[in-house]
Amino acid sequence: MAPALLRFYAKDWMADVMSKGKPTISIIGAGRLGTALAIALTSKSYPIRAVAARRAANARKAISLSALPSTTLALGADQLEQLPPSDLVLITTPDDAIAGIARTFAKLGRSARRRSTFLHTSGALSSAVLAPLAERGFHTGSLHPLISVSDPRAGAEALSGAFYCVEGDSVAVRSAKAIVRDLDGNAFTIKPESKALYHAAAVMASPHLVALFDLAVQMLVSCGLKPQEAQNVLTPLVQSTVNNLKQTSPEKALTGTFARGDVATVQRHLKALAPKQLAEALEIYKLLGLHSLQLAAQRGLDPKVATQIKIALKKT
Ligand SMILES: NC(=O)c1ccc[n+]([C@@H]2O[C@H](COP(=O)([O-])OP(=O)(O)OC[C@H]3O[C@@H](n4cnc5c(N)ncnc54)[C@H](OP(=O)(O)O)[C@@H]3O)[C@@H](O)[C@H]2O)c1
Repeated sequence: MAPALLRFYAKDWMADVMSKGKPTISIIGAGRLGTALAIALTSKSYPIRAVAARRAANARKAISLSALPSTTLALGADQLEQLPPSDLVLITTPDDAIAGIARTFAKLGRSARRRSTFLHTSGALSSAVLAPLAERGFHTGSLHPLISVSDPRAGAEALSGAFYCVEGDSVAVRSAKAIVRDLDGNAFTIKPESKALYHAAAVMASPHLVALFDLAVQMLVSCGLKPQEAQNVLTPLVQSTVNNLKQTSPEKALTGTFARGDVATVQRHLKALAPKQLAEALEIYKLLGLHSLQLAAQRGLDPKVATQIKIALKKT
């Protein structure tokens, strides 16, 4: 046999050996997280049988980006009945599509005899959204990686070592935890009824942080900086804050005007934020200022100074 052909078969054989004992997987949803999971799970030798998206062309793109074998099936949303039997089905569609997909598979019911497990990756929804599948004898759960994925390749790297919120029936939770372990992550559980609040916390810490950062960029643009320049100068500030938060509690990580209780500086800020075009930034500054005051109080800010700042924030 020619050496190139030999290498080809040896690679296939190695992949087969490595994937022994791993559950077969199908992924419904080939966007940012679905593709990141396809890349990360492939690198851990999980055999991925099929990838589905609304449009089959997007599933094909995800398959090629994840360097999956050409035998991996690419399906569109109207072809879900062709999904090959898989031990595990990961639903990585937008939250609003999950219930419909659960109903579709519950109607198909085809692979129920294999006792497949369905896991969705929504942060806000619990496994209850998969109830039609549970009623048909499938195992159901949710597996939410607490990271922000805007690019599948970078996302695949971030999945390694991430924290994952996991809940569902005991078999589903076991499957989810095995994936987390293989991705070198850490699993934790919350009550299903707390998922909306849990997800709102995640939104505060990530997308809202981006929105807050954007407001700060706009404020620097009002000072005359170009948007990119503003982003560049602010990023190390955010980075150093995140580094502090890795090491200590929020009240100890709080630095700056509110931590020191600089009343006159707060008044200067409020005046600078008075122009109409900064109205949104002013409102958010005042609201977060009140919370910063609570943190500053926990680390011993003089109550008289705290009251002066509170009055300034409330009367503007
Ligand atoms: N991105 C993150 O940072 C992140 C982090 C943690 C958890 N999550 C969760 O992961 C899920 C997916 O988020 P995402 O950001 O990856 O979304 P996304 O990039 O918008 O991708 C959604 C994917 O689902 C496909 N899709 C939509 N409706 C479908 C249907 N009815 N049948 C089959 N496929 C369908 C889309 O197909 P087309 O490509 O053809 O449009 C697309 O490939 C959400 O539940 C989200 O809460 C996301």
